[in-house]
Amino acid sequence: MNRLTTITLAVLLLAPLAAISGAAESPRSADESTTLKEAFQGHFLVGAAINRTHATGQSDSRRTAQQVEQEIALIKSQFNQITAENDMKWVNIHPREGVDGYEFAPADAFVAFGEKHGLQLVGHTLVWHNQTPDWVFAGTNPPPASANPSGKKEPGYMRPVYAGPRASRAELLERMREHIHTVVARYKGKVKVWDVVNEALDNGGPENLLRNSLWLQIIGPDYIAKAFQYAHEADPDAILRYNDYRLEDPVKVQKLVTLIKSLREQKVPIHAIGTQAHLNATTGTFEQIDRSLTEIAKLGLPIHITELDLKAAQGGRRSTGAEVAANAAATQGGLVADADERLTRAYEGVFRAIMKHRNSVKLVTFWGANDAVSWRRPGNPLLFDGNSQPKPAFKAVIRVATETPAKIN
Ligand code: G3I
Repeated sequence: MNRLTTITLAVLLLAPLAAISGAAESPRSADESTTLKEAFQGHFLVGAAINRTHATGQSDSRRTAQQVEQEIALIKSQFNQITAENDMKWVNIHPREGVDGYEFAPADAFVAFGEKHGLQLVGHTLVWHNQTPDWVFAGTNPPPASANPSGKKEPGYMRPVYAGPRASRAELLERMREHIHTVVARYKGKVKVWDVVNEALDNGGPENLLRNSLWLQIIGPDYIAKAFQYAHEADPDAILRYNDYRLEDPVKVQKLVTLIKSLREQKVPIHAIGTQAHLNATTGTFEQIDRSLTEIAKLGLPIHITELDLKAAQGGRRSTGAEVAANAAATQGGLVADADERLTRAYEGVFRAIMKHRNSVKLVTFWGANDAVSWRRPGNPLLFDGNSQPKPAFKAVIRVATETPAKIN
């Protein structure tokens, strides 16, 4: 089967045939038991980022065995796709230098969990400025005087940026090639989609296109094209995705358009665009998402919503205790019901926009199974509370899906 047909089939795997064929539409019904994957069947897959407790079934310091069991049940019932929240990142899968420096067990557990439960697998992420061990960038070349003085944390980094002697361009390219070839080949035929490069765009004004990461400083701007080339060499059938955040920002989304057009002119094998959609009350609106998806759709590539969560309240926890003071403190003066109302309205608008672009959107992944395991957990940003119970926003999202009939053959 030639590559184009393979890729076409692979893309169809992420969007049921009907959603591609543009066939007629038919009304669909929903009842109390309708799940997210059922509601959006015929449009796009619906997924969640899962963590190591979900993949292994083992509790940890933050989640009890019962909570983990509840969350696994929620993942299996509501979703048909999963992304590894952390366990395929370089810092976890390749923590030590060289070909013997891999730790595959957590990533293998993620893949095994997905295969066992028939869930589409997304690999996150091969090349990123964050959660990449210092050894990757280290070498014998002195850093430039402008290098970040050790100990200073830069915006967008979880810890101070490596400031020691550096690898050469050739050394870093070879490390990138070896890492990508090893990881992608290991899961060939199992992981259907890869976030090849994550968050390469600069977040400032229009003058800077790319983030000044060590990848850019040491290799140069072609590190992005090289990463996609290496991933395609390792698995020609994988869907290779560029992933970034804040693509609701008109300036940043134009940078995305510039970058992707340039890559495609170079015939770089890029097959989908990931917009993370870590939203808040300002960006989580129909207008914002409609405008962003309209711009991204101009690239003519499938769109994946890759890390959806929405912080609509200032704070907020679903304490059902009588402790009104605690609630007020947690929601900064609001009440859970108010926070729920704001979240419901916001998610309703976001999904109306997604459904307006349903011919381009092939996958929607929530960044977590429920509020308790979310990286933004004080903000209650997901559709299920910390006990894996559906919030009012869940029912509103199901309603939006059923208002827009699925495509039929
Ligand atoms: O595994 C260690 C554990 O052993 C240790 O005890 C604990 C306390 O230090 O840290 C644990 O690692 C944490 C890891 O999450 C797993 O929980 C890291 O410190 C923590 O930094 C890491 O945060 C992740 C973050 O990326 C790192 O940048 C979040 O879970 C994850 O949701 C978040 O996801 C990113 C996407 O990959 C890219 N897009 C943005 C998104 C949000 O930042």
